[in-house]
Amino acid sequence: MLQNIAKYNHEETQELRGLFEKQLMELYWSETAIAKMLKELTLNSTSKDLKSTLKKQAKESLSHLVRLVKIFRAIGIDPTGIVYEAIECFIKEAQETCTHIKKGVVRDAGIIGLVQKVNHQEIASYGTMRAYALALREEDVVTLLEKTLIEEKQADLALSDIAESHINIEAADKEI
Ligand SMILES: [Fe+2]
Repeated sequence: MLQNIAKYNHEETQELRGLFEKQLMELYWSETAIAKMLKELTLNSTSKDLKSTLKKQAKESLSHLVRLVKIFRAIGIDPTGIVYEAIECFIKEAQETCTHIKKGVVRDAGIIGLVQKVNHQEIASYGTMRAYALALREEDVVTLLEKTLIEEKQADLALSDIAESHINIEAADKEI
C-alpha cells in the first residue's frame, strides 16, 4: 500500500510514536526506490568494482526492506509506503547524471557522489529512527535498525574507497 505524504494524517505525528511510524513508512518507500535506482546505476556505470559494489548495495536495500517489514510487524502495523520527496530528488539527479554525462570514468565519479548522498541520508534516517525506538522502549526494533545502520555506514565507506583509490584520480586525468 502506498500513500502520498499530503494524504498522511498529521494528527498522528503530534506524538513521537506517530512520527516514528511516518518516518518508517518513508523509509519503506525509499528502500524500494533506492534498490531500483541502484540497479539502473549498475547498468550505467563502467568500472568493475563500482558495478559489483552497486549490485551488492541494491541487494542490501532489499534486505533492509525485509527488516522494515519485521519492524512494522513488531509494532503491530501493516507495511505501508509514503513517497519521500528528498529521495525522489536524488533519483532525479541520478537520471540526469546518466543522461548528461557520457558513460565512463567521470560518470562513475558522479554516480559514486550521488549514491553517497543517498547513503548519508539513509544513515541520518536510520540513526534518528534508532534513537526514537530507544526512547519508545522498542528494544527489538532498536536491534534491527542498528543492523541496517551499520550496513549503510559500510556501504558509504566502500564507495569512498573506490572513489579515492582510483576513480577520482582517473576522472581528473581524463582528457576530453
Ligand atoms: Fe538501505
